[in-house]
Amino acid sequence: MDNMITTEQVTKKYKSFLAVDHISLHIRKGSIYGLLGPNGAGKSTTMKMLLGLTAPTEGMVAIDGKQFPADRIAILKEIGSLIEAPSFYANLTGRENLDIIRRILELPQSAVEDALELVGLSEFGDRLAKEYSLGMKQRLGLAGALLGRPPVLILDEPTNGLDPFGIHEIRNLIQSLPDLYGCTVLVSSHILTEIERMADDIGILNHGRLLFEGSLDELRQHALRSGFAADHLEDMFLSMIEKDNTSRKERNN
Ligand SMILES: Nc1ncnc2c1ncn2[C@@H]1O[C@H](COP(=O)(O)OP(=O)(O)OP(=O)(O)O)[C@@H](O)[C@H]1O
Ligand SMILES: [Mg+2]
Repeated sequence: MDNMITTEQVTKKYKSFLAVDHISLHIRKGSIYGLLGPNGAGKSTTMKMLLGLTAPTEGMVAIDGKQFPADRIAILKEIGSLIEAPSFYANLTGRENLDIIRRILELPQSAVEDALELVGLSEFGDRLAKEYSLGMKQRLGLAGALLGRPPVLILDEPTNGLDPFGIHEIRNLIQSLPDLYGCTVLVSSHILTEIERMADDIGILNHGRLLFEGSLDELRQHALRSGFAADHLEDMFLSMIEKDNTSRKERNN
């Protein structure tokens, strides 16, 4: 299968601190790719580089064969994103907020209703954004990302603040997207059971390094070879991170 997103040795340094350290990702077209890592591992920074929100210090990013900075506009037209907490006009309704994005993207009016429906917000479309609950704001952010059904979706912790029903619904929605319109999804989350259920491929980051990339099956085989429990993604993830942290400490001593 073709890759929709690739990075080659992409690196982000803040002064002398390596937030993202020579990472090469391969995200297949039409797949759901789960990007995992403890707090501060470099997930959001990686996503920001894919969106052109921050420039790599070294290395290369390609989306659908296009590269920054030359193809910036073409790339941004292809990506819907939800990075950290979405921001809205508090005194406008959910529907009005989406309509602003719709106009910028020059989409038909029906795109707003379509997106509200997709995220289960249709009946709350006329409520002011400031009156939305945390989970409703997250859904509205997702609706904004989905406007125009972009071929690539980059979602940074999209289930942040959602209740178990919301988490379940958003997972079902994300899972349905590749079939619905061939979308490629890059998603980060700390809820490993959700990632385990929806992701085709997994990337595991720790301290800016990519420790693993591959399918869940490949991760299981990798874990078994290393003598780790391989029943759940969470076990494998924790073992892999702990092992890396231990060898880092040994190297530093
Ligand atoms: N603008 C910045 N200036 C300096 N350091 C930064 C900046 N942005 C991020 N960092 C650092 O880069 C590292 C990676 O941060 P990043 O936000 O990518 O982590 P993350 O994997 O998304 O973590 P989380 O799970 O908490 O969201 C962290 O140590 C963070 O403090
Ligand atoms: Mg983050």
